[in-house]
This record gives sequence, C-alpha cells and structure tokens, in this order.
Amino acid sequence: MSDSNESKPVEDGKSLVGKCFIVDKFSKQLKATVIEERIVTPDSFEYYVHFEGQDRRWDRWLKSEDLNKAVEVKPGQEMNDNEFVSDRKVTRNYKRRHDEINHIQKSYEEMDPTTAALEKEHEQMTKVKYINCIRIGKYEIDTWYFSPYPEEYGRHPKMYICEYCLRFHRFPKSYIDHISKCRHRQPLGVEIYRKGTVSVYEVDGAKDKIYCQCLCLLAKLFLDHKTLYFDVSPFLFYVLAEVDKEGAHIVGYFSKEKISPEGNNVACILTLPPFQRKGYGKFLIAFSYELSKREGKQGSPEKPLSDLGKLSYRSYWTFVLLDLIRSCKRTLSISDLAQMTSITKDDIISTLRALNMVKFWKGQHVICVTAKVVDEYMRTAGYKKPILTVDSTCLRWAPKTYSLNNKK
Ligand code: ACO
Ligand code: ZN
Repeated sequence: MSDSNESKPVEDGKSLVGKCFIVDKFSKQLKATVIEERIVTPDSFEYYVHFEGQDRRWDRWLKSEDLNKAVEVKPGQEMNDNEFVSDRKVTRNYKRRHDEINHIQKSYEEMDPTTAALEKEHEQMTKVKYINCIRIGKYEIDTWYFSPYPEEYGRHPKMYICEYCLRFHRFPKSYIDHISKCRHRQPLGVEIYRKGTVSVYEVDGAKDKIYCQCLCLLAKLFLDHKTLYFDVSPFLFYVLAEVDKEGAHIVGYFSKEKISPEGNNVACILTLPPFQRKGYGKFLIAFSYELSKREGKQGSPEKPLSDLGKLSYRSYWTFVLLDLIRSCKRTLSISDLAQMTSITKDDIISTLRALNMVKFWKGQHVICVTAKVVDEYMRTAGYKKPILTVDSTCLRWAPKTYSLNNKK
C-alpha cells in the first residue's frame, strides 16, 4: 500500500522503521515502535507508531519533534518504568488480571504459533491507517484502524461519507454535490423495528450489494480483526438508526450470516464512536438474540471478540442470566437458560463461571447460586441494567430459510 515517495528512509537517510522510543503519550510514558515513516515537507517527517501493549486503535502518526524528544530503546533493552517488562516479581496471575482489566494485547510469544503467524500477517497487511478522519452526517470522527478503501480514496487523510447511502467521497465538493442530490433519507433495506426514535433496518447483502460493501468499509475503520468487505451476499445487515424529522441516521449495525455452520448469530457488530457508551451496543446484542429466539435457535458472536466486544457481551450476558435466575420461581438448569435466552450453553457457562456461580458436578456444569446471592451481586458495580431494551412487540420479522444455493 506504500507509495514510494512516502516510505523513503528519512532523517539523514537513516530509516527509523523498527526502532523503539519511549514517548510521552496519553499522560504516560509508553514504548512506541516505528512502523512506517513519510515525508511531509522536504524537512519534516512523520512516523507511524504502535504503542506496546496497547490496542492498535491508539496507533498514530507522530511528528519528528515528538521522536526527537524521545529516548530510543535499543534492542534487548527494557523500559525501567514498565513494571510488567522489568519487574520480575509481578506474579503471572496478577499480570493476567492487569492485562484483562487494561485490555493489554497478548505478545506473539504468548500466542500459539498459528495465531501468532496469522496475527503477524494481519498486522503486516493492515499496518498503517491512512484515513485519519471521516465526515458522516453532522459528525467528524477520528478513525481507529486501516480499511481497504480503493487506494485513491485511502490516501486521503479525510473522507466524506453520505450518512444515508454510505457512498464515500475524497473531496468536500463532490460530497456536498452528492448530498444535495441523494434521494435516500434512511438506510437501505426494510424497516423491521421501530419504537420511538429507534429504528432497525434489515438489508440483504445480495440485494443491496454496494450499500453493504460501503457499510463494511466504514465499519472496518473501527474494527481490527474482521475481514468481510466485498463478498457481502451471504450476509444480512441489521442497521440501527435514530429517527428525527430529517431522516433515519445510522448509529451502528451488526451483520449475520444467512447460514452459519458455526451457529453464529452475529458476524460483526459496531456502534459508531459518537454514539458509543450510550447503550446502543447492548441494544444491538439484545436484538441479535431476539432474532435467534424467533428462529428457535441459540447463537453466539463470531470470534475473536475485540476488547470492547468482550466487555459488551459479558455485560449483556451477565444481566440477562442473573435477571432470569433471580426472577424465576423454580430452579433453572443451563439448558433452561439457553432455551429461554438463545445464549449458547458455552457462553452461559463462561459467564456464570466468571461470577463463580457454576460448579462442575458429576460430569456436568450446574448452576450453584441462590436468589439472595444474585440479589447481592446485582447491587454491585459489575451489574448494569441496560439503558435501551428491545421491545419484541415492535419487531416485525419472521425468519426466512436460506439454502446454500439461494443465500446469494
Ligand atoms: N471502555 C470501557 N468500557 C466500555 C467502553 C470503553 N471504551 N465502551 C463500551 N464499554 C462498556 C460499557 O460500559 C458497557 O458496559 P456496562 O453496561 O457494564 O457499563 C458495555 O461496554 C456496552 O456498552 P454499550 O453502550 O451498550 O455499547 P456501545 O454502544 O459502546 O458498543 C461496541 C459496544 C459495539 C463493542 C463498540 O464499542 C464498538 O463498536 N467497538 C468497535 C468495534 C468492535 O470492537 N466491535 C466488536 C467486535 S467483536 C464482533 O464483531 C463479534
Ligand atoms: Zn447518499
């Protein structure tokens, strides 16, 4: 993806790619590795860096001045102020807990060889994000990750996207021209849910191919590990929108395979950053389970889950399961819970195990908790009632059957 002008060795002809520096960022001292460099003007450069132990959405271009002030870390030399690199007294358990809480990424050495090889390949292909910012509707959003927009678009730091049809533009002029002509005022597809100002549209990847491809490209700017962009036909897309007098404005979506041999009920899920942490993510998750309930199936999200995906699913599962255990008069088995919620047994077991509420007894997992314990837990900070809930009476949808031939 590199353009020869931009990836020439810089600063006295010496490339800094691969070198590590300790830089002040996010009010911390972090170890940053240079991944790519580019010439901005004949005497100023920029360096694309990854901060060790941080999710790649924090990767960014730094100016030469930032690295001039930074201390270089030589190979083999460790940062003294990073307790997990230098302090051998920290126990493995403590490190794991710390890493989970702070969403620290595993290093290659901690992964199995196949995962490490795939991870390296993925990082190589998507190492630098060129589009820094998008304009969509009334929002300007800083992007998180690389997305494979056509090269001539990808090379523009800012991109303009129509919030209704999702067509993308490099130049403000063509964007303004487009929005003055675009006849859409809502996502494509069919509205299958409406309650108050919240609306969900079902879009078939086989019917509205370009819209779904544009949605995947947009989503990839905020999703690191998902790789569906062009072959959208085997998927359905559920687009969540907020409705006002101007139209239905996209907030987020999830995609779902028409036929999922692995039993996944979600492939990718996203809330656009301006709308995050307002309950829309858990609404989309609840919606995906509502569809599974109508299908009479249990389902699980496609793996791997991102750090934010894990947090959201764990929070949703915890609420739904504990709420049922507390309110149900009879003792419930794991199969009962799976049937009532459409959450798979594996996800139920892992959620209850994390809460210490399940035991392995006589060869099977049994729920080991009283309503009183659940009540007590519900008063703690780990338990969150959803802000937005799905009203199943507002869902106008029945499952369709797809065969391997007609899924396209
Ligand atoms: N830091 C800490 N906690 C967070 C953050 C954050 N940045 N963002 C969300 N959460 C927590 C919330 O506090 C909430 O937990 P709580 O109810 O226990 O407090 C939970 O995650 C969900 O919050 P919502 O507001 O319902 O979800 P949101 O609208 O923010 O969407 C989502 C969550 C979809 C994961 C969003 O963060 C996102 O789009 N991330 C980027 C894409 C991504 O990672 N998608 C999941 C990939 S996995 C897959 O696709 C199957
Ligand atoms: Zn448009």
